[in-house]
Amino acid sequence: MLPAMRILTGLQPSGKLHVGNYFGAMQPAVQLQDVGEAFYFIADYHAMTSSQNPAALRENVRELAVDFLACGLDPARAVFFRQSAVPEVNELAWLLSTVCPMGLLAKCHSYKDKTAQGIAPNHALFAYPVLMAADILLYDSNQVPVGKDQKQHLEVTRDLAVKLNETYGEGTVVLPEPIIREDTAVVIGLDGRKMSKSYNNTLPIFGEEKPLKKLVMKIPTDSTPVEDPKPTENSTILALYKLFASDADYATMVADHERGGVGYGDFKKRLAEAYWDYFSLMRARREEILADAGYIDQVLAAGALRAREEAAIVLDRVRRAVGLI
Ligand code: ADP
Ligand code: TRP
Repeated sequence: MLPAMRILTGLQPSGKLHVGNYFGAMQPAVQLQDVGEAFYFIADYHAMTSSQNPAALRENVRELAVDFLACGLDPARAVFFRQSAVPEVNELAWLLSTVCPMGLLAKCHSYKDKTAQGIAPNHALFAYPVLMAADILLYDSNQVPVGKDQKQHLEVTRDLAVKLNETYGEGTVVLPEPIIREDTAVVIGLDGRKMSKSYNNTLPIFGEEKPLKKLVMKIPTDSTPVEDPKPTENSTILALYKLFASDADYATMVADHERGGVGYGDFKKRLAEAYWDYFSLMRARREEILADAGYIDQVLAAGALRAREEAAIVLDRVRRAVGLI
């Protein structure tokens, strides 16, 4: 029998999830639970490379755990854990750093981008890709689904895996394959740019009905009079509506644009409704999870136990290969 395909990915706990995160990362991760054995973790060590705020870290980790579970992560099928609950990852990161040329890290875009944004160039930010490689290699991961921005980090991971195997023998670690979501359409934000928390143009997935619907009502539009036809190209309203509405309702809204006679206020109301309804089951699930006081801790503890079992096997193999045992 072939061993199960192991699919691993990490998400940074960095604030409220938005619709772009949902379609770009959570939904694909949830779907992949049907394809192989999923290992999903909250990258709390990584979050500390750009922000050092204990209260915010605790809060963001909890929030991400609730939201990911509400979005369909199924702990009966996927192993869900906090990165820091498996401290073995630090040892593997150290072993990998012994075969990691400085130049490999110095050329990474994310390090250059973050320091250009004014984030202090600390050692952890520089070594970020080594820890990420350890995250992946510690679980003998076969496939790693990530957004385009992480492509280079996956290349570093593969370089380090090859180097470790060349130095200490084939099979020391498993060479992972990236699954880069090139084709995932970029979800656009309320101002028409890419939806991103750094642009402050997001639609959160969860929150109170009134303020969320209000965000939709504030989408800027042109001044076409109600009775005139309205442009369908580059329409923020239509692009977002397509994500939430049925094909038939979307077609109706396009036709109403082309015909004229319907105002932007009306389109926004339809969009606000569709957006609100789209996440209704997930919202209900989220309330259930929050009402069950110990649930999140239980899920994460069970996930950590399972992840550590796997980590111990791999780390033992690597320690033997490098001569520590
Ligand atoms: P942000 O840009 O808001 O800081 P992150 O960089 O934390 O978002 O992204 C987390 C995940 O969500 C990544 O996998 C990324 O590819 C995905 N993602 C973020 N924004 C979008 C978007 N607008 N469209 C599609 N996917 C997105
Ligand atoms: N660096 C990733 C991001 O910011 C998160 C991450 C950490 C990750 N370790 C990983 C993703 C391992 C995939 C595999 O999105």
